[in-house]
Amino acid sequence: MTKHVVTLIPGDGIGIETSAAMRKVVEASGAHIEWEIAEAGAHMIEACGTPLPEATLEAVRRNKVAIKGPVTTPVGTGFRSVNVALRKALDLYVCLRPVLSLPGAGGRYEDVDLIIVRENSEDLYAGVEFPVGSPEALRLIELCEQSGAGSIRQDSGISIKPISITATRNIVRYAFDYAVKQGRSLVTAAHKANIMKYSDGLFLQVAREVAEEYAGKVAFEDRIIDAFCMGLVMEPSQFDVVVFPNLYGDIASDLGAGLIGGLGIAPGANIGKDYAVFEAVHGSAPLIAGKDLANPTAEILSAAMMLDHLGEPQAAAAIRKAVRTVYAKGECLTADIRKATGSDKPAARCSEFTDALVAALS
Ligand code: NAI
Repeated sequence: MTKHVVTLIPGDGIGIETSAAMRKVVEASGAHIEWEIAEAGAHMIEACGTPLPEATLEAVRRNKVAIKGPVTTPVGTGFRSVNVALRKALDLYVCLRPVLSLPGAGGRYEDVDLIIVRENSEDLYAGVEFPVGSPEALRLIELCEQSGAGSIRQDSGISIKPISITATRNIVRYAFDYAVKQGRSLVTAAHKANIMKYSDGLFLQVAREVAEEYAGKVAFEDRIIDAFCMGLVMEPSQFDVVVFPNLYGDIASDLGAGLIGGLGIAPGANIGKDYAVFEAVHGSAPLIAGKDLANPTAEILSAAMMLDHLGEPQAAAAIRKAVRTVYAKGECLTADIRKATGSDKPAARCSEFTDALVAALS
């Protein structure tokens, strides 16, 4: 079988360790992968003047599929998030995040199995903002006042929340198509349309229109985001596929991760028409970076998603099975999981946990 060439972006912080662990596990799974390493992160700023060098973007464009460790967003340097830049440059309009219970991972419930589908290109995440006191912010404040839209304090910074028909239609269609393909029966749209009538209201209106195209195949409901959060915490099994505008999807992802045992086990993917970049939900966790303490499960499960995408379902299934086996045994689990389960057993290092997974694969 010919090998799939995948761009591997280790990132920085714990990404260095989780990416190395992921690579070891994927190689042990028998998947036909050849890696092309490309760099992104704070350490590239000095050499390239940017945390996301053009060569890295080119490598993803060339190979079409990438897996990425987390990247620190430097505070106060003027550099925007590498993740947001990558999603924008490659038009990765879907953020797909399965929230699935693992046995013995310390989740609040044992049967969580839902899919977060987050719009990835607009909303308050679009990065369209104006600092307090800037001429643009003052002009906007004046426009709001003059148009009668409302009054904004002069000493306000402003972030714009664009929600378009086009992006909403694309993301909701993706959610329904995913539900059909995976045999899932319900799509929920989460929003705050009762308050933000022209942004979330539009999201809901378009979601309802798209839902009609799938009538009889997949059921549809909508939830106001605050009620959704309560429902998720109290009874997660009521949800199946949930589609969100960008910011709510970001927050719900961490909430979902919290329900199943934490960020250490929450995988994800950013998908567009031409490219796909797989990455864990978590960030670079600078406080534990370089100490062999990180939990690589999230990046390893992201790799399993990538293998499905590449047409290697056997390797993907083998990795998922090995993960479940090691968690169910409970002998070799990292510190975050020991904490989540309230266990006083000694915690495994990232490298020890990785070796346990490799052993479970053989
Ligand atoms: P974070 O996800 O890095 O950490 C939050 C908490 O979870 C910390 O206590 C951390 O130790 C723990 N944690 C996260 N992943 C873990 C793992 N695999 N194993 C064990 N513990 C884990 O979020 P934070 O602190 O808000 O962000 C740190 C940096 O990461 C920031 O610069 C942020 O911008 C960046 N970030 C990058 C992302 C990406 O590259 N996709 C996503 C989210 C944040």
